[in-house]
Amino acid sequence: MRHGLAFALGCLRDPRRMGAIAPASRALARAIANEVQRERPAVLIEVGAGTGAITRALAASPLVPERFVVIERNADFARLLRSAFPTLEVLNHCASQVHSLAIESRSPVTLVSSLPLLSMPREEAQRCIDAMLCVIGRQPGSRLIQYTYAAPHQRPFHHIPPGWRWRRAASVWANLPPATVWSLECPAGLINGVH
Ligand SMILES: C[S@@+](CC[C@H](N)C(=O)[O-])C[C@H]1O[C@@H](n2cnc3c(N)ncnc32)[C@H](O)[C@@H]1O
Repeated sequence: MRHGLAFALGCLRDPRRMGAIAPASRALARAIANEVQRERPAVLIEVGAGTGAITRALAASPLVPERFVVIERNADFARLLRSAFPTLEVLNHCASQVHSLAIESRSPVTLVSSLPLLSMPREEAQRCIDAMLCVIGRQPGSRLIQYTYAAPHQRPFHHIPPGWRWRRAASVWANLPPATVWSLECPAGLINGVH
């Protein structure tokens, strides 16, 4: 209830950066957690965690890595996340700073993004995209999982490095609105898009 109220207040105060009318449903959170489990990242990073609906499912997954970093721009949400998940590294930052995190150079990262890339200010969205691509591009074996509320064939964004591709991982109808989960990945044998 506390989380539902916080989410509603967030929507009223900054609708463009919330980009949703309700927190992620359990079905969407489970679909994302299942997708994360397909591989075993050394580091898990969630950006735009909001009130933690997806964080909760990720934290409860059996293969959750030791390092799980949560980045949320809204200070009230960051406070809520810290008290709900005291063992996680919760940073009250803009996701455009994600590339400044110190991560061991060969550690594969799975980045989960709830950022509303279509509704948030365009320049901020581009800075966040560039920072996320920087992280997954420099850490071999990394990928980005992003969900959208757009038409199911519409990729989250188009300018991706050569050799990378979007895979549609799941469609979740039991969510308000229905969502599509995408994974941006670089096929095996390519590092940073180069053989
Ligand atoms: C769709 S809502 C999050 C939904 C979340 N999965 C949930 O179910 O509660 C998008 C979130 O992204 C956050 N956000 C927006 N712009 C951001 C940015 N530049 N950096 C980090 N977080 C941002 C918002 O504050 C909001 O919490």
